[in-house]
Amino acid sequence: MTQHRIYLFKGFERFWHWAQAALIIFLLVSGFEVHGSYVLLGFQKAVQWHAIAAWSLIGLWVFAIFWHLTTGEWRQYIPTTHKVMAVAHFYSVGIFKGEPHPFKPTVQRKHNPLQRLTYLVILVVVSPLIWVTGWLYLFYADWTAWGLTGLSLEWVAWGHTLGAFLMLAFLISHVYLITTGPTVTAHLKAMLTGWEVSDAADPTEVADAAR
Ligand code: HEM
Repeated sequence: MTQHRIYLFKGFERFWHWAQAALIIFLLVSGFEVHGSYVLLGFQKAVQWHAIAAWSLIGLWVFAIFWHLTTGEWRQYIPTTHKVMAVAHFYSVGIFKGEPHPFKPTVQRKHNPLQRLTYLVILVVVSPLIWVTGWLYLFYADWTAWGLTGLSLEWVAWGHTLGAFLMLAFLISHVYLITTGPTVTAHLKAMLTGWEVSDAADPTEVADAAR
């Protein structure tokens, strides 16, 4: 089987990915300290740094959204059910039997259908849950002035913690899936260098990719 090296992740994309990963891991660590799960920084410092990381993530997202819209890369996230069952079957059965991955990445379609669906759920369910509850939490002192008298802090905290657990579940499965490429470190290297190995990309796309 011919293997091609394709340039999949551009400089900004890799910066965005790793900066976001670092901020989310820090938000998880500081957030669960605020939650009372352990003591690392001390409660006050954990609250302060959690807020700083949250605003930094907002700033990063503004740039990332702008980049996705201006480069047209937002199309990578349009969900599809095409081959989704084949990919699910691969990760639950085929992978343990050494079967080939049913999806071959190309520059136009970097994410397999299961990835597209997962990222969409993160984008439209998990992130909004975390942001809305996080903001409400941040501006708790203004609730009365805003007329939010019926809202319970307990529910907001519960929703935020649920969002945090969903994000943690995503992170764990994401890290596992990173190791399931052609070699254990192939996907990790692709996000560091930009170059991914694909065994069935159409040669014209590969030529485009190399530009
Ligand atoms: C991946 C992102 C995030 C994770 C994993 C996360 C996690 C957490 C967790 C576990 C808590 C403790 C909740 C509790 O026990 O009541 C917390 C508290 C909090 N989070 Fe987040 N969070 C994230 C993003 C955000 C964002 C984006 C904001 C603001 C827009 C935010 C604002 C807050 C605030 C204000 C608190 C409460 C601090 C206090 O008690 O004074 N968080 N977070």
